[in-house]
Amino acid sequence: MKIGLGADHLGYPLKESIKRHLIAEGHDVIDYGVNDTTPTDYPDIAVTVARAVAAGEPPQAVLVCGTGIGMAITANKVPGVYAGVAHDAYSAAKARTSNNTQVLALGARVVAPELAATLVGIWLGSEFGGGASARKVGKIQKAEQQLTRKRTKATPR
Ligand code: RB5
Repeated sequence: MKIGLGADHLGYPLKESIKRHLIAEGHDVIDYGVNDTTPTDYPDIAVTVARAVAAGEPPQAVLVCGTGIGMAITANKVPGVYAGVAHDAYSAAKARTSNNTQVLALGARVVAPELAATLVGIWLGSEFGGGASARKVGKIQKAEQQLTRKRTKATPR
């Protein structure tokens, strides 16, 4: 599978660990940085990666910051992107089967590398369930379209 990876300075070491794991498993990794621990604002990375995911290349990505929360909030601002934080196996599976996320956000200050690798594997290996979940995700998409349209209309040109 093709998977994008991105991190801020706090997430960098865990991102590297996840990258090694994914490559060892035979995945095709696109690394959007950062590549050291120089302080970096997480929205800068999240927007870059989420925009790439919205364009479908790569189709999915893992973002890492201290908690995963800032990465998920930012990624979810990019139209068409659905990001979730998951620090347990159940949530990692549900993030895909129920929520159809293309972005998994992890907190390097929350999960150890081994658990992170397990969670990424569960998330990648889970498929959207459709059915009632499709109806609910469809409502998210509809809300997104309506809210984005409104915001665009209200912006003075
Ligand atoms: C540091 O900027 C820290 O706030 C960040 O890594 C992340 O935890 C934000 O959600």
